[in-house]
Amino acid sequence: MGLEQSVAIVTGAAQGIGYAVAQRFGARGAKVVVADRNGAEAAAAKLQAQGIDALGVAVDVSSPEQVEAMAAQAEALYGRIDVLVNNAGIYSSLTPKPFEQLTVQEWQQVLNVNVVGVFLTCKAVLPAFQRAGGGRIVNISSGVAFKGNPGMAHYVASKGAVISLTRALATELGVHKVLVNSVAPGFTLSDGALANPVLVEGVKGPSLRGRVLARDMLPDDVIGAIEFFADAPSAFITGQTLVVDGGAYF
Ligand code: NAI
Repeated sequence: MGLEQSVAIVTGAAQGIGYAVAQRFGARGAKVVVADRNGAEAAAAKLQAQGIDALGVAVDVSSPEQVEAMAAQAEALYGRIDVLVNNAGIYSSLTPKPFEQLTVQEWQQVLNVNVVGVFLTCKAVLPAFQRAGGGRIVNISSGVAFKGNPGMAHYVASKGAVISLTRALATELGVHKVLVNSVAPGFTLSDGALANPVLVEGVKGPSLRGRVLARDMLPDDVIGAIEFFADAPSAFITGQTLVVDGGAYF
């Protein structure tokens, strides 16, 4: 099935990369569920004003109950769920700090959203995928999962886990015609990143220096890869991770 006929849940879609994805999917004709802890309804209203069929749901992806309720609400309204983009993540609010200073609370907070959140949404949406005869999961990892990044051990580990979970689910869910792939962006000037000068200063320089296509990366630069994994042309691809970073990590 093409994206045009799909119902797509995009987590963390109130801003940044997630919003750009929701906008692209909606412009293609998909019905979009904006699932975000903050600002979901306002973002859905912005999309509706552009003629997009969008539903905003306030949800913390690390809460099993809230995630179950979000999936149920989406399926009740639209009758099916075809695509899940796991984009919500703790990144742009992080202040890089040496590994020795990282607390177990900080570690757990990041893993809870970035990994447990992906586990919970996949679990919650799977029954709807089965009822629809299949589905697409696109998990947002990060280029740092391959390269590391000083001061962000918890974040790097979480994004590595997303890649392994992508592979694990691909092997298990293929039988249900559920394809699971991942996109790993390089440093992107998203809303969240732009609001954190420490991050921009710390990452932008090194990230740009190592990038073959020597310019800033914007949310629009990554949505094509996410769209590809959610759409008909990738119908025989599963378990893969595509790095989109302007040529920084090879
Ligand atoms: P952002 O900070 O601009 O937006 C993240 C969105 O996720 C926000 O709307 C936030 O409210 C939502 N969110 C956070 N925790 C949540 C939770 N527990 N439940 C529901 N929603 C939650 O982020 P950005 O930069 O657009 O990143 C999106 C994804 O891409 C994240 O997974 C991030 O780790 C990943 N990524 C970002 C890169 C970058 O340089 N900006 C590079 C590589 C990966």
